Amino acid sequence: MDIYEALYTTRAMRRLRPDQIPLDVQARILDAAIRAPSEPDGRRFLLVDDPDLRRQLGALYLAVWEQFVDPGKIPPEFARAFRSGDHLARHFAEVPLLLLGFGQGSGGGSIYPALQSAMLAARADGVGSTLPTFLSFRQDEVLELLDVPPDEGWRMVACVPLGYPTGKWGVAARRPVHEVTFRNRWGTPPGFEVPEPLWQPKDEDGVGSAGSQSGKDVVR
Ligand SMILES: Cc1cc2nc3c(=O)[nH]c(=O)nc-3n(C[C@H](O)[C@H](O)[C@H](O)COP(=O)(O)O)c2cc1C
Repeated sequence: MDIYEALYTTRAMRRLRPDQIPLDVQARILDAAIRAPSEPDGRRFLLVDDPDLRRQLGALYLAVWEQFVDPGKIPPEFARAFRSGDHLARHFAEVPLLLLGFGQGSGGGSIYPALQSAMLAARADGVGSTLPTFLSFRQDEVLELLDVPPDEGWRMVACVPLGYPTGKWGVAARRPVHEVTFRNRWGTPPGFEVPEPLWQPKDEDGVGSAGSQSGKDVVR
């Protein structure tokens, strides 16, 4: 897969089928993940496919979701994300594979790039993912449930649900780059504008044959 296709279409996929992810696919995802920038030995990964553990983690996730997300206070522009997040929270135990990322100390510095690489590698294999951090609010229970040694300083940073998606891949919607990027000093425009994503799928029904279009069509 073209790297730009993976970068542009690795968006949150929270509606996942229960089908198992083959071990060779899991191996590819993890082997790509560990290539990401790292502090020395500062991260660990834990794959959870045991149904009982998934059920227990799912119960914890739903409790945090209901604690922090008030359905009555969702702005209209987040309604879709809310529905998808709510679906994940209520079907967490059905997600076939959970990839938990651990870091040491207070920062998750080493684990985030690795999880992003895992998500990109998963995308290349047609496996959907999201980057939920909510479970980390139930840190002690998660560590105990998964037999994480309590005296080595490991902290669960995020729990990435992995599975084959029910929906279609698409380009993630974001505020355009020139609205979130400055040059030299805060508030100074970067000198280019990118009104539309520079990579677009060419297939009629989604993503596919488009090659990299990086560098084209930048409005200066
Ligand atoms: C630091 C961080 C924490 C996140 N935590 C959660 C989470 O707890 N639950 C969740 O469903 N998504 C979580 N997300 C995923 C984003 O919410 C997701 O990217 C957003 O909904 C945009 O969706 P899109 O990529 O499809 O555009 C998190 C993302 C980041 C970067």
